Amino acid sequence: MNDFLKIGHRGAKGHIAENTLESIQKALDIGIDAIEIDVHKCASGELWVIHDFTLDRTTDGSGEIAKKSADVIRKLKVEGHYKIPLLTEVLDFIEGKCDINIELKGLDTAEPVCKLIKEKVASGNWKYSDFIISSFQKNELFKVRDNDDHLPIAVLSKASVPEAIELGKRLNAWAIHPSLGIITRDNTKLSQDAGFKVNVWTVNEREDIQRMIDFGVDGIISDYPNRLHNPVLNL
Ligand code: G3P
Ligand code: CA
Repeated sequence: MNDFLKIGHRGAKGHIAENTLESIQKALDIGIDAIEIDVHKCASGELWVIHDFTLDRTTDGSGEIAKKSADVIRKLKVEGHYKIPLLTEVLDFIEGKCDINIELKGLDTAEPVCKLIKEKVASGNWKYSDFIISSFQKNELFKVRDNDDHLPIAVLSKASVPEAIELGKRLNAWAIHPSLGIITRDNTKLSQDAGFKVNVWTVNEREDIQRMIDFGVDGIISDYPNRLHNPVLNL
């Protein structure tokens, strides 16, 4: 069997409120190689770990994150009792315990995220290879590469793997992250033959996990990372 990277989606979204320290702790308890989280920047410049552009779905607040100050966001609750963590809090929380896939979801996140990563690497507690920076936004990924030669970049795609491969070549990317809806055995091989790792999202059903293993993917991003430990292996 091919070994693969076990990646907890938004922490362990299937178990505990997404993108919270508690969800990340659950993923660590399950045993993962990396967590995937989403990042936005607020009006006062801080980087927050939250998926949507607005606060409405996952918190007791409302409105656009990009228009709020840190003082407002800090007071909000997720599902009644969890907090929205800062990216720097997440990095301190997981330091040395697993790798991290930071998805640049919000606008103008590439530069502050690269700056934070440089500081963490300079502290000696992190290596560039502990990070995967992914995004659907080309311009953010190019800003990452302009800022930093070292960071592993993953091109996210839910539309076309060949297009993601072409973009990946221009970015000197490390991986392609296709959605479950577009991945095939052939485009997995196409990506790997072009020199990229292939980590697929979001794979929750056991039969899909098995199918991805059969395709030979390099990693799986799942809301239920526990299921990645016991796939029915087709040896
Ligand atoms: O990074 C993979 C996946 O998280 C991308 O989609 O909407 O869950 O952020 P979304
Ligand atoms: Ca994401």
